[in-house]
Amino acid sequence: MNLLLDVLQSCHRFERTPIWFMRQAGRYLPEYQMIRKKYDNFLAFTRASTDAAAVTLQPLQRFDLDAAIIFSDILVVPAALGQHVEFKVGEGPVLQPWDVHQSFDLTHFKEILQPTLDALSLVKSQMPPTKTLIGFAGAPWTLACYMITGHGSKDYLPTVYAAYTYPDRFKAMLDQIIQSTIDYLNWQIDAGADVVQIFDSWASLCPEPLFKHCVIHPLTQIVKGVKRLHPQTPIIIFAKGVGHRLRHIFDIEGTNAIGIDQMQPLIPLLKTKQLVIQGGLDPFLLYSGGDLLKSEIERYLDFFQDQPYVFNLGHGIYKQTPIKHIEVAIDTVRNWDKQRYG
Ligand code: CP3
Repeated sequence: MNLLLDVLQSCHRFERTPIWFMRQAGRYLPEYQMIRKKYDNFLAFTRASTDAAAVTLQPLQRFDLDAAIIFSDILVVPAALGQHVEFKVGEGPVLQPWDVHQSFDLTHFKEILQPTLDALSLVKSQMPPTKTLIGFAGAPWTLACYMITGHGSKDYLPTVYAAYTYPDRFKAMLDQIIQSTIDYLNWQIDAGADVVQIFDSWASLCPEPLFKHCVIHPLTQIVKGVKRLHPQTPIIIFAKGVGHRLRHIFDIEGTNAIGIDQMQPLIPLLKTKQLVIQGGLDPFLLYSGGDLLKSEIERYLDFFQDQPYVFNLGHGIYKQTPIKHIEVAIDTVRNWDKQRYG
């Protein structure tokens, strides 16, 4: 049995709820920090296959988790498309802003991503067969947010401006990112990923007149392009902060699971049984701990008790999160399973 893979493929609930955490391979772990110290350059770290494989496996060695997510970043794709990408300490990603009229240079695309594919194969060979390996990519809208604006932002206005002002060029740019992302996800599956997740972290900031073309269309094309070559590989879509527009994500044909964030109310739409729901717990509660951490976890588990559900957060783990709270969260889920299924 490979629990997460089985739940996603069958769309059934088993007697154990699969658990993993977004950003589980990261800075809250002292053993991550030990390896991180070796690199000034974060992207160089993501391209060091052996170390990337090691930090991918770290959370599994410490916690009773069901899956590992490959250590990399969504911004390796813009870098592989020829854009200058840097991660500045205390500042986050900084990119040489991309002009929507430029075209991409695909000459070195696969070569630049190859170390991550090698890391996937390494992890796969070192992982117990009961655990699931997750590959991932950023959604085209979220990548365009960073690529055109050049850094993190509260509104990504340069990206929204380009989408409104040069719709044809913007569409051409998205189309190239879509095709590159399809290739990249298919290669990740060939290299060993059991499941892939698409992160549309800034879907919330896509204005309604653009939503269909810039969020739904690219996600639909990517699901289609991955399923064409890998019909059995489950796909999880995490479109953060879309609220009411989540119903359009549900309509994307071929998706196996939908991630929800901590702002998402637990509404009847989520009890579809046609799709697996993943996540929701406020990562801030995992940081703050206490009784509310346990009762909130139980609220998600109770709500989804007759529905295939994957326990996860509503967004990535904060780096200040105490390790103890992660253990408490996992124990809470395992105890809930025991009480329900004996
Ligand atoms: O989940 C995992 O454990 C796997 C690795 C992973 C990273 N980034 C490693 C990382 C994954 C899945 C991502 C996805 C990612 N990267 C997203 C989508 C998910 C989300 O959080 O919305 C986004 C938007 C990014 C872009 C990004 N990368 C930002 C904004 C930052 C800086 C802010 C921050 O959290 O530090 C990063 C850097 C980054 N990516 C780090 C890690 C472990 C920290 C860098 C370090 O160790 O110095």
